[in-house]
Amino acid sequence: MKKASMILDKDFSIGSIDPRVYGSFIEHLGRAVYGGIYEPTHPTADQNGFRRDVMEMVRKLRMPIVRYPGGNFVSGFRWEDSVGPRNQRPSRLDLAWYTTETNEVGLHEFVDWAKQANTEVMYAVNLGTRGVDAARNVVEYANHPSGSYWSDLRVQNGAKDPFGIKLWCLGNEMDGDWQIGHKSAYEYGRLANEAGKVMKLVDSSIELVACGSSSREMATYGDWEYQMLMECYDQIEYVSLHRYYGNAANDTPAFLARSVEMDMFINEVVAICDAVGARKRSKKKLNLSFDEWNVWYHSNAQDKEIVKQDKWNRALPLLEDIYNFEDALLVGSMLITFLRNADRVKVACLAQLVNVIAPIMTRNGGGVWAQTIYWPLMQASMYGRGTALRPVVQSPTYDCADIEKVPLLDATATMGDDGSLTLFAVNRDMAEDMSLSVDLRAFEGLRVVEHSVLHHADVNAINTEAAPDTVSPTQGELGQMDGGKLTISLPYLSWNVIRLEKVRA
Ligand code: AHR
Repeated sequence: MKKASMILDKDFSIGSIDPRVYGSFIEHLGRAVYGGIYEPTHPTADQNGFRRDVMEMVRKLRMPIVRYPGGNFVSGFRWEDSVGPRNQRPSRLDLAWYTTETNEVGLHEFVDWAKQANTEVMYAVNLGTRGVDAARNVVEYANHPSGSYWSDLRVQNGAKDPFGIKLWCLGNEMDGDWQIGHKSAYEYGRLANEAGKVMKLVDSSIELVACGSSSREMATYGDWEYQMLMECYDQIEYVSLHRYYGNAANDTPAFLARSVEMDMFINEVVAICDAVGARKRSKKKLNLSFDEWNVWYHSNAQDKEIVKQDKWNRALPLLEDIYNFEDALLVGSMLITFLRNADRVKVACLAQLVNVIAPIMTRNGGGVWAQTIYWPLMQASMYGRGTALRPVVQSPTYDCADIEKVPLLDATATMGDDGSLTLFAVNRDMAEDMSLSVDLRAFEGLRVVEHSVLHHADVNAINTEAAPDTVSPTQGELGQMDGGKLTISLPYLSWNVIRLEKVRA
């Protein structure tokens, strides 16, 4: 059995964890809305047409924010189409996803859904085909109490109280040439600055996210961040990062090492933000919004066929990745990466939430089930609250195709406000269990109350409607506590959540 160790001390902390790192994303794409959260003919539908069975699974994620309505979709979207009497809302071609959008679910309906899901809306404005005027109007519509054209229209449309949307995205992936209304870094930076300025004139309490690069692989990565930030640094609070990984090469060790690359990505964007801040002699520090992240590759080939055969139909079953066990391990490591960077990553949205590259799957007219990736997200959101600790971890390493010295143990720890401790750990070893020794130093009187393990002998194992628990957490051994040292075994290829609480006298 391989050995690894971890030292934890209350005084070695990274910072407090912003709960919004456990956010998610619903785009008007595929069956995320229609057939996902909303299906009026479904036996569990409520009076507004939302599926209660889906809502129940969403609530369990304790998701503090949900990004909406896109994504690539937003760059061709007219927000005005999504309000007012439903029978008067236009159907439009969604040029991003080759679908027809009926606007049956719009801003009011989504705000109501979010309220029921105990989450806040993070709203993206269209800076692709539209600009400053549409952006300030939607802020006025959503957040101004009343007595102006757009706020009175909201009241007339049935919402007396403002929606109070606090977090706004200034467009989506504007660096990508696939984006409707794609821009250069300078064009985008100027527009983000002016749109942000007028949005804050309408409501000075809002926070803004500017588009960083669509991925670290973009040819313009780095230059994009620097140039656009030179134009809009003073106006915004966050820079976005997006990253999806895949294992098309069928190389599990390399796939599981992607979170190391993600960590580099975060550090690099932080460095660029701080470089621009220094260049401007600014006292302000920007934080990061990792507002799209996940595994995404399983559905790529299938999607091409669907679009070929069914272009412009409604709610095409696009981006329906079926996640396997190894995907859950990487998602676990990506969550650990956010906790390790809790001082600068304040928002993160798993892309997406239902059916579209999602932890929750549905069948139209049928059941709902948790994909493998649901579990690490749910458990991190449940227990990864409070303070992110800075553990000293020693682990054996391995080399993969493009990264050397990848730690076999990927682990971190959080401290709850009640003094409880949670360890999150991925054992990346393909074959061997690992004995982890945890030096608990100043944490006196704690004992392990739960060790939850996500493990499967087959990295390709999946959950289905008929067999929803194939990959789901089981109880692991509680380990041995000896004089402030915990020794606990982590199965090969596993995601572990080890919870310690104070022993009551
Ligand atoms: O999440 C799916 C898509 O990925 C989003 O619409 C886009 O922003 C990204 O490229």
